[in-house]
This record gives sequence, structure tokens and C-alpha cells, in this order.
Amino acid sequence: MLRLPDRVTVCEVGTRDGFQIEPEFIATEQKIEVVERLAEAGLPRIEVTSFVSPKAVPQLRDAEAVMAGIHRRPGTRYAALVPNDKGASRAVDAGVDVIHTVVSASESHNLANVNMTIAESIAKLRAVGEIAARASVTMNCGISTSFGCPFEGDVPIGRLESVVARLVDLGAAGIGLADTTGMANPRQVTEILERLMPRFPGIEWTLHTHDTRAMAIPNILAAMACGVTNFDASIGGLGGCPFAPGASGNVCTEDLVHCLGAMGVATGIDLAKLIDVSKRVQQIIGRPLPGQVMKAGPSTRRYPVPDSVSAKLSGSTHA
Ligand code: COA
Ligand code: ZN
Repeated sequence: MLRLPDRVTVCEVGTRDGFQIEPEFIATEQKIEVVERLAEAGLPRIEVTSFVSPKAVPQLRDAEAVMAGIHRRPGTRYAALVPNDKGASRAVDAGVDVIHTVVSASESHNLANVNMTIAESIAKLRAVGEIAARASVTMNCGISTSFGCPFEGDVPIGRLESVVARLVDLGAAGIGLADTTGMANPRQVTEILERLMPRFPGIEWTLHTHDTRAMAIPNILAAMACGVTNFDASIGGLGGCPFAPGASGNVCTEDLVHCLGAMGVATGIDLAKLIDVSKRVQQIIGRPLPGQVMKAGPSTRRYPVPDSVSAKLSGSTHA
């Protein structure tokens, strides 16, 4: 029997993980519109933007303006990604509800992404933890390349565990294990979660997937079977990581919400509204997104029976 929770919490990351790689600047008003429509569709958590160096990610240089422009929907938690203390101060001043931090489990990816060794990042994140605590803002810490690194290959589980331990020590309320370039598989996800989850009681675990090799939903199923109930996803499957070669988008939010709904797992999200947002995002970025349910419709969609088939059907009932 597949072990499934009754309910999961989906965090939309498309306006950060997705928009960050778009080469053409997306107008601030359009970013605000997408965030507001996602909240209106029932997304309980949104990683709105990131407070990083505008030289590293020029697309998100309007982070303050986006945060200031959104009308907050009660019940939605608005988060932003930060790599260091400067980002944390900016995020707190902008009024985020939650700070998401970033560090990698592999040295080369961490250097490529944030120009710091893992130890240097952890030192910065200690300062982030202090800023978050002073502002009574929750800090959830994500770990890139948790399931493998595009430069180094396998990441030993002991190394991942030591990064988790240091993040828990500096005040992480939650840990997000990120499969940055879609290298994870369900057996590995199970092995890692079965080892880590019992060792860090009280931590909220999130799985952050990329569907680079079509294994995101199988990995999410494996994580749910281990008791994980928090998943990051991006609208339409938008995204990638500019600092990881070969990376592609996150698991598509509406495809995940559809899959969960079909299995009776509640998300509180309105699928039809979500699909409308995905179509709007395609318009904004000017190209089709990989999301599949927006093309196929939900599995409850029905087509008219062809005439030739109806004739045979009515023939057989009368026979
Ligand atoms: N927000 C805005 N500006 C920042 C900043 C932040 N969080 N952190 C640093 N800066 C500025 C510094 O003030 C400095 O500005 P100056 O050149 O005008 O003096 C400049 O950026 C360089 O600062 P430094 O500390 O030397 O950083 P760096 O050049 O080594 O870059 C990071 C380090 C972390 C700031 C940068 O690599 C980064 O922002 N990476 C984010 C990557 C990302 O978002 N990846 C995707 C997420 S997985
Ligand atoms: Zn990501």
C-alpha cells in the first residue's frame, strides 16, 4: 500500500527559481501580478524573490519593489531566498514572513553559486540566523546538490549530514533538501530521509525537486512515504539554476497539485486557477512551459464518444 499523507504543503518557487534565469527583464508589475494570482489560487507559501547580488542575478534586482507591491493575502506565507547577512537584512526590511537560505552540499557548486566555501557560507548563515531571530522571522535552510553535484558527482551522505547539523545548530526551523540538477532517484531519496529525519527531531523537512530527468514526482512519492509533507514546485515547470550546468525547471506546480488531488491528498489549491496562472506566465515569458496538465487537462476531462463507437455501443446494449 502506498503510504500517503492526508495533506501536503506546496511552496511555489517559480517567481524566484524560475524567473531568475529569464534573460529578458520581467516588469516588476508582472512579477507582482503572478505572485498575487498564485496566492489567490490558494498557494499557502510563495518564495517570492531573492535578495542576492544584482550582479549575480540581475533579473531579481527589483526584490524590494516586488515585496512592497504585493497585496498580502491572509494565510499565505511570503518567503525570499538569501545567501548572506546583507540579503537577510534586506529581506527583513522588506517584510518577508520567512527567510530561505542557500548553501550547497558540494564545495564546487557552492563556489559557483555564491563564491564562498561551504564553511564561509555557514559563517554568513550564522549571521542570517541572528538577523532572523531578532526580527522573529522563521529561517528555513535549503541545501543545494543534496542528491548529487553536476561537477563532483556523488555527494557522500556524511557530508550532507554534517551540513544539516551545522544549519540546525545555527537555528534552522526547517531543512530543504534540493535536487538542484535532477540527479536524485526514489531509492536514494528514501535512504537519505530515513537516515536524516530521525537524527534531527523537530525539523520541518522540504523536498525541492527539479524535473531535469523526469524523476521529480517519483521522488516526491518516495519522500511522502517517509513522512515529508512540504514540497517546492514552480508554476508551469519554469526554471533552472544559472550556476549549475544542465539544470532545468522544478517539478511543475499544477502537475504536482493535479497528481496529489487525483490521489486524494489535499493541498488547498484551486487547480483551474493555477492552470490560468501558468498560461499567463507563458504569455509573460513568451514561450511554452513544460507543464503537462495545462495541455492535457485534468484526468477527469472527458471527450465526446465518436459516432462510430456510439453506434456500436447502442447496438451492443440492445443486443
Ligand atoms: N544583496 C545585494 N547586494 C549584495 C548582497 C546581497 N545579498 N551580497 C553582496 N552584495 C554586494 C556587495 O555589497 C558588493 O557590492 P559592491 O560591488 O557594490 O561593493 C558585491 O555584491 C560583492 O560582494 P561580495 O561579498 O564580494 O560578494 P561576491 O561578489 O563574492 O558574491 C554573493 C557573493 C553571494 C553575493 C553572490 O554570489 C550572489 O548573490 N549569489 C546568488 C546566487 C543565486 O541567487 N543563485 C541561485 C540560487 S540557488
Ligand atoms: Zn532549485
